[in-house]
Amino acid sequence: MYLSRSAEWSALESHYQDTRHHAMIELFGADPDRHERFSLSLEAIHLDYSKNRITPRTMELLMELLRRSGIEEKRRRMFEGERINFTEQRAVLHTALRRPPGYSMIVDGDDVSAEVASVLDQMKAFCGKVISGEWIGYTGKRITDVVNIGIGGSDLGPYMVTEALKPFAHGKLRAYFVSNVDGSHLSETLKGLDRETTLFIIASKTFTTQETLANAMSARAWFLDEAGSVDHVARHFVAVSTNREKVEEFGIDPANMFRFWDWVGGRYSLWSAIGLSIALCLGFERFSELLAGANAMDEHFLNAPLEANMPVILAMLGIWYNNFFGAHSQAIIPYDQYLHRFPAYLQQLDMESNGKRVDRAGQEADYATGPVIWGEPGTNAQHAFFQLLHQGTEIIPVDFIVSLKSQNPMGEHHDMLVANCFAQSEALMRGKSEAEARAELEAAGLTGGDLAKLLPHKLFPGNRPTNTIVLDELNPFNLGSLIALYEHKVFVQGAVWNINSFDQWGVELGKQLAKAILPEFDFDEAVESHDASTNDLINRYRQFRKG
Ligand code: F6P
Repeated sequence: MYLSRSAEWSALESHYQDTRHHAMIELFGADPDRHERFSLSLEAIHLDYSKNRITPRTMELLMELLRRSGIEEKRRRMFEGERINFTEQRAVLHTALRRPPGYSMIVDGDDVSAEVASVLDQMKAFCGKVISGEWIGYTGKRITDVVNIGIGGSDLGPYMVTEALKPFAHGKLRAYFVSNVDGSHLSETLKGLDRETTLFIIASKTFTTQETLANAMSARAWFLDEAGSVDHVARHFVAVSTNREKVEEFGIDPANMFRFWDWVGGRYSLWSAIGLSIALCLGFERFSELLAGANAMDEHFLNAPLEANMPVILAMLGIWYNNFFGAHSQAIIPYDQYLHRFPAYLQQLDMESNGKRVDRAGQEADYATGPVIWGEPGTNAQHAFFQLLHQGTEIIPVDFIVSLKSQNPMGEHHDMLVANCFAQSEALMRGKSEAEARAELEAAGLTGGDLAKLLPHKLFPGNRPTNTIVLDELNPFNLGSLIALYEHKVFVQGAVWNINSFDQWGVELGKQLAKAILPEFDFDEAVESHDASTNDLINRYRQFRKG
């Protein structure tokens, strides 16, 4: 039975009609156990989902919808390395990258766990050499700066994690991330760098990505400009890829290549050698803690009952709003400056995974799939777009993320940060009634027509849903768990929507057309082969280049 015509879906539609006017604040009043019922802790992560527009019955119905998707079987197939990414004929095994030593997994006759362990050993040895200064540049100086050149999953994860875990860095290496093909990104990065002490990591799963190869070539040219001999490249360029041939073709010695496998999706690859920049900046021990934290969440996802399973709960709440309330966007607001790249990282994880319009049978979905993910750290976000969250016409569910412990205790700063976080979820739920707003205006001395004019602008409808995720501390282990929490959330949603969360064909068309347009800038004659708009854009640029 097609998802949106199933009995489970219809039951949720009726339930939505019956409950959509329920006020959360009243549900709290009616049920003294509500908070306890709708919150859950796993090691150092606490999820409070009580400020959602749900009742116990809502969760039951959502779990029925979930069970209908065959979630347990789909989850088993992923963890056991079946080729669930059926449009690319690939297994999806990022979870194998973070299994503790001693675990065995055979995929297509290969002992995947042995391969993972051997690359981890290679990374550990390399990090040891670079951090200790044993690995030296072409003039005998130690490496002080590491530039990761990659894009998408080969950039967002490592960049987000190195930023998030800065307080745990050993401080002997500075990290930079260059992703955009806009030459300004590389130029600005290179400005402050010394060729003798800079190491480039060329990170690309395919090693065919236009942006990464262009940046890598330009970085190489910049390096050779002073270093002179290509013999020196080996001490300053390493590669992370699944594609040995292309790495060699580029001129990087395969001895300086860290491999991974096609069963690691780009947006799930920070746990693989793509995390080399993380391991270099934090040290291999800290990288291992990150993996261990992710593995703890994997174990929880695999073993906890669905009703008490954190990724499952987040996923099903998302489906409740996306598919039944028509809320097609989801804000992620970390009250933690170190997590400033987390929303951007989640954009790829979620939107590249679940931004799909056909189901697994190739039929067009008549229900919404991946929501728009967006966000910025609090408190900055409060002064930018929270107006819309509080008083805009649409409901936008929010995930707040906050740590109990500050990495930089400084006067009252952390108390203020945390107070703001907690106040926002309270305000979004409570809103401000007409009576409250009127009383405030009267207290401020307003009466009659002046009061009446201002009153509607001062009302807050409230009843806006939020989750609050509280970490004891933002450390490598807990960050690993947090990232894996969202990875599995995305998986569960994809399972319910019956889509393939692991391909990304939608990024191909633009790439193809860009490749076709690029040589046209050199045409002598005006380009006329596109639509009128695209022709004009191309010809304007052609003319500009001609001068
Ligand atoms: O944009 C599409 C994509 O394939 C992403 O999925 C991937 O993370 C990114 O490009 C980079 O790809 P690669 O690591 O092969 O350079």
